[in-house]
Amino acid sequence: MAETSTSRRPLIAANWKMFKTPAETEAFLKEFLPKVPSDLNCDVVICPPFISLGLAAALMKGSSVQLGAQNVNENPEGAFTGEISPGMLAAVGCQYVVIGHSERRQYFGETNAGVNKKMLAVLKQGLIPIVCVGETLAEREANSTLAVVERQVKEALLNVPSADTKKIVIAYEPVWAIGTGRVATPQQAQEVHLAIRDILKDQYGSLTSLSVRILYGGSMKPDNIIELMNCEDIDGGLVGGASLKSDSFFELINYRQRKAVER
Ligand code: PGA
Repeated sequence: MAETSTSRRPLIAANWKMFKTPAETEAFLKEFLPKVPSDLNCDVVICPPFISLGLAAALMKGSSVQLGAQNVNENPEGAFTGEISPGMLAAVGCQYVVIGHSERRQYFGETNAGVNKKMLAVLKQGLIPIVCVGETLAEREANSTLAVVERQVKEALLNVPSADTKKIVIAYEPVWAIGTGRVATPQQAQEVHLAIRDILKDQYGSLTSLSVRILYGGSMKPDNIIELMNCEDIDGGLVGGASLKSDSFFELINYRQRKAVER
């Protein structure tokens, strides 16, 4: 039977990476937030650098936009210089946290086992993890995309309590498409999204598989979001570059309206 995506609320998340000072964050939010309609029918999350989380939380109060962090340490507290715990993120007003981004895997040595520890700690804290998976160009060219992604998904979700599986958000981000302007075609993305949904179905059953939101990330922009979002198993986006300007991020979150106008 064909699956429908009607029960999954779209989610568009901004991953600002190491961009924007607190003053620039404030300027963005003062321009962006008043434009966001309360009946958008899409969850919107912004993930600024750690130092701007408190400020962003204060500015977002009363809006429908939610706050996320870009990383977290799995320990509740302790002598871990430079790190931030799940409890600290919750205390400052985060609802979401990105874990296992490919830049963290590539430059900071994060492994699937480490991502799993973060996953369990984040869920225990009641935060929603946005766990990133995706193959490198060499892995795609070696035809190992699905094997790599399967391993990343299974190992990230190891020992997750079944009551928590539906909350998880997965971001499929082919590494070769991140920040390169080279976007996956809707067919390439849909193939992997469907494979991820099949893995979830095998491991946790249909309900979880149909509930988990799977975002696409990698050069998502106002001019390609509509065709990506038309794919059955793509439920939103994790957006880097195109989320840094309030006009372009607004066009992204408002893609449904634009779609209606373009028809
Ligand atoms: P990009 O980044 O949109 O700039 O490609 C996406 C991401 O890294 O999450």
